[in-house]
Amino acid sequence: MISVDVALGGVWPAELRTDRLHLRPVTAGDASLLRELLTDTKVRAHLGSPASEERVAARQAAYPATAGAWTVVRVADNHAVGLVAIGPGHRCEGAAEVSCQLLPDAWGRGLGRETVAAAVRWWTEAVPAGGPIVAVTQPANAASRRLLESIGMRLVDQFEEHGEQQCLYTPAGDQEDTDLRWARLVAERVDVVERRRGAQARATAMGQELPDDLTALSPSDMARLCSDRHGAYGRICARTAGHVPELHLGRSRDGAWIAWLTNREAYLLTDCGGDSGVVCR
Ligand SMILES: CC(C)(COP(=O)(O)OP(=O)(O)OC[C@H]1O[C@@H](n2cnc3c(N)ncnc32)[C@H](O)[C@@H]1OP(=O)(O)O)[C@@H](O)C(=O)NCCC(=O)NCCS
Repeated sequence: MISVDVALGGVWPAELRTDRLHLRPVTAGDASLLRELLTDTKVRAHLGSPASEERVAARQAAYPATAGAWTVVRVADNHAVGLVAIGPGHRCEGAAEVSCQLLPDAWGRGLGRETVAAAVRWWTEAVPAGGPIVAVTQPANAASRRLLESIGMRLVDQFEEHGEQQCLYTPAGDQEDTDLRWARLVAERVDVVERRRGAQARATAMGQELPDDLTALSPSDMARLCSDRHGAYGRICARTAGHVPELHLGRSRDGAWIAWLTNREAYLLTDCGGDSGVVCR
């Protein structure tokens, strides 16, 4: 197996896109984002503590030259909201380690999961010789643990480091084919989450007005369908062109209704369930 650094060097720089995010290599222009992430007490609550000025300066200099370190940009407003990195895991010889941190304003909307899922999927698909991947987080970091579990990672070890307990996560599955299973597992877990959201959306007036059988749509109906962003999975939105809000509805590969979003406002509307007053145009 080649080292993580060598594997990364062969495919870097890389840019990734998801439904709502653009992951691009960190640049010198991200200095203020890095400072914010490294010094915010909430972000650093389970990552040691806010970093010193010296450490901030060192990280600002190092990240733009680090293969595997992406700035997470929210596409809706082109705002840099965080950092995700895949690099050599110093706790597990030969394994890559993924870590992610977002600014608190961006928390709680599924962006962390979208970010980490995209990064690890890239690792297994674009860097096939890269070897296993792990994640380490503290037991009290409920958001991080839930995120990792929701994309198919399982807790395999706990150990103490820097005076704190740490949880080691790896993809679920047999050791032998962990790499191969990983991309599939991530895709499955993300699908489950998206389907759950789709079920909520179906309960809204919008969902009920859509035909159940998309093949029944005439060519002229099809021409009027949404031509907007269809996401990372090649999904087709069954709503009409120019619809508001940006909640797209379509079918997943197994035929289940599925919903996806392109901005924060749409997310808030889905939280309102059937009382949102949103009507399909
Ligand atoms: C960890 C972090 C990236 C999560 O980002 P996020 O965008 O808020 O997470 P998501 O919205 O994608 O949520 C992922 C899961 O965690 C759950 N979750 C989010 N915040 C939570 C919290 N405070 N407590 C419990 N669960 C939480 C979500 O409900 C979701 O689970 P679900 O699928 O069952 O609904 C973010 O909290 C963060 O940047 N923290 C500071 C840095 C850090 O500790 N990083 C982790 C170690 S590298």
